[in-house]
Amino acid sequence: MVRTRILGCGTYLPANIVTNTDLSKRIDTSDEWIRERTGIHRRHIAADNEWTSDLAVHAANAALSDAGLKVSDIDLIMVATATPDHTFPATAAEVQRKLGLKRGAAFDLQAVCSGFVYGLSVADAMIKAGQAQTVLLIGAETFSRILDWTDRGTCVLFGDGAGAFVLQATPFDEIPGKKAEGPGILSCYLRSDGEYTDILYVDGGPSSTQTVGKLRMQGREVFRHAVTNIADAIRSVLRDVDLQISDIDWFVPHQANVRILTGTAKKLRIPEEKVILTVDRHANTSAASVPLAFGEGLVDGRIKPGDLVLFEAMGGGLTWGGVLARY
Ligand code: ACO
Repeated sequence: MVRTRILGCGTYLPANIVTNTDLSKRIDTSDEWIRERTGIHRRHIAADNEWTSDLAVHAANAALSDAGLKVSDIDLIMVATATPDHTFPATAAEVQRKLGLKRGAAFDLQAVCSGFVYGLSVADAMIKAGQAQTVLLIGAETFSRILDWTDRGTCVLFGDGAGAFVLQATPFDEIPGKKAEGPGILSCYLRSDGEYTDILYVDGGPSSTQTVGKLRMQGREVFRHAVTNIADAIRSVLRDVDLQISDIDWFVPHQANVRILTGTAKKLRIPEEKVILTVDRHANTSAASVPLAFGEGLVDGRIKPGDLVLFEAMGGGLTWGGVLARY
C-alpha cells in the first residue's frame, strides 16, 4: 500500500504590508469595522513586478529545502490559483521554468479558496494511482489584482501570498482496524454546488467579457453557506476513518474570516486553541491560506511529527472540502 506523506512545507509573503488604517485613508472604512466584522488587522500585497509565479517559486524553494529534496526530485507541479500570471500557459508551467525543472508534468488547479484542499486530494489520488512519486503542490495568489479597490465590502478582505507542500509516495502497511495510524494523507472529501456561482465570482473572463474582471461577492450569503459546508467537510473526513473531533491535534482551515472560524469551532465544539489562525495578519489569501497557516504552525513548533491535522476550506463555486493527514 502507498501513502502520500507531507515531506516539506514552505511559505512566502510579499514584503509590502497594508494595514486597515492604511486602507481607511483610501476608502470609507475603519480599522474598527474591519477588525470587528472579519478579525483582519493587515495583509501583504505583492509589488507590481511580483507575479503569482514569483510568489509560488519562493514558497516552492522553501518547501524543497524543508523536505531536503532537489528540484530534480519533483515529477509533478500543481499550482492551485485563481489569479494565474496568464490565461495560459498554466502558472505551474511558469514555475517549472523558473525552478529549472526539465522533467515531469505541470498544471494549474482552479477551485478558488478550496484550491489547496482540492490539490491535496488530486495529488493523493495521482500518487496512489502511480502517476506521480513526488509532487510539489503550491497555493499561490495575487488577489490584490482582481479586487475592486473602490468596493469597501470586498477589498478589505483579501491579501497576497503563497504556500507549498512537497508530497511523496511512501510504502505503508495499514494495521487492520487502525486506519488513522502511520504518517500521510488518511482521508479526503471534495464537494461543489454550482447553484451558487453568483454569490462569489469574478465578473470577467476570456470567454465571456475578454477582460480579467473584478471580484464580486454577496458577503452575507457566502457567510451563511460557509459554516454549514465546512462542518460537512470536517464531519465527512472524520467519519471516513472512524475518528472524533477530539482526536484531532490541529485544525488548519482556509482563512476567510475569524467569525467563520469561530462559528465553525462553536458548532462542532472544536477547542479554539486547536485552530491555527493567520487571517488577522494575512487576510484571505485564497488557495495560499491553508499552507501558509500550516507553515506557521510548523515554524512556531505547535505542529509536530505524528500530529493529526485536519485541513478544510470553502470558496467560490461554491467548492468545499477537507483532508485529514498525520504529519
Ligand atoms: N467598512 C465600513 N463599512 C462597511 C465595509 C467596510 N469595509 N464594508 C461594508 N460596510 C458597510 C455596508 O455598506 C453596510 O452599510 P449599511 O448598513 O449602511 O448599508 C454595513 O457595513 C453592513 O454591511 P454587510 O455587508 O451587511 O456587513 P456584514 O456584517 O455581512 O459583513 C462581511 C460583511 C465581512 C463581508 C461578511 O458578510 C462576511 O464575512 N462574509 C463572508 C465572506 C467572506 O469571508 N468571503 C471571503 C471569500 S469566501 C471564502 O473564502 C469562504
